[in-house]
Amino acid sequence: MQKSQGSIMPAGPLMKEHRLIERMIAVIKKETEDLTSGKELNTFFIQEAADFIKTYADQCHHGKEEDILFRDLGKKELSKEHSEIMNQLIAEHKYGRKTLKELLEARDRYEKGDKKAKIDALNRLKALVEFYPKHIEKEDKHFFLPCMDYFSSKEKDDMLEEFWEFDKTLIHKKYRQIVERMEERI
Ligand SMILES: [Fe+2]
Ligand SMILES: [Fe+2]
Repeated sequence: MQKSQGSIMPAGPLMKEHRLIERMIAVIKKETEDLTSGKELNTFFIQEAADFIKTYADQCHHGKEEDILFRDLGKKELSKEHSEIMNQLIAEHKYGRKTLKELLEARDRYEKGDKKAKIDALNRLKALVEFYPKHIEKEDKHFFLPCMDYFSSKEKDDMLEEFWEFDKTLIHKKYRQIVERMEERI
């Protein structure tokens, strides 16, 4: 965990979350190799991997980055380099969401009998395997730690507090949405 002046910095939990995302990416990479060797598309695998990417990597992790860290960085006088990287990271999050959406569309087509959708699903899985490590490396090595210097100790403590609060409400939000969606179908 990254520490500053005796306290944990907001970069710490974000970098810890990167480690879990990397583990899922390694699992997805193995699946892409099996699919390339001729294995049938496993729609249950896609469902589980997509749930992780959507809920954990995007809503929980990118959510804290965009809604809290980037929001507060937006109030600071960022260097040209940091401002450019932040814009790239936001665009990359959008790309991740688009790729996930296309993966689920390919999965749906496959389930409806379009066997050719396997190649589209495989390509989207490969795209995620390619995308996440580069995105994570950019944040870990070139952004999070230098960006901590824009904040005072109090601002960093407040940000960490907001991170915990964000995480605490997320699971309730997710399952409330599921219930609401299912209620609409009955
Ligand atoms: Fe990110
Ligand atoms: Fe990240």
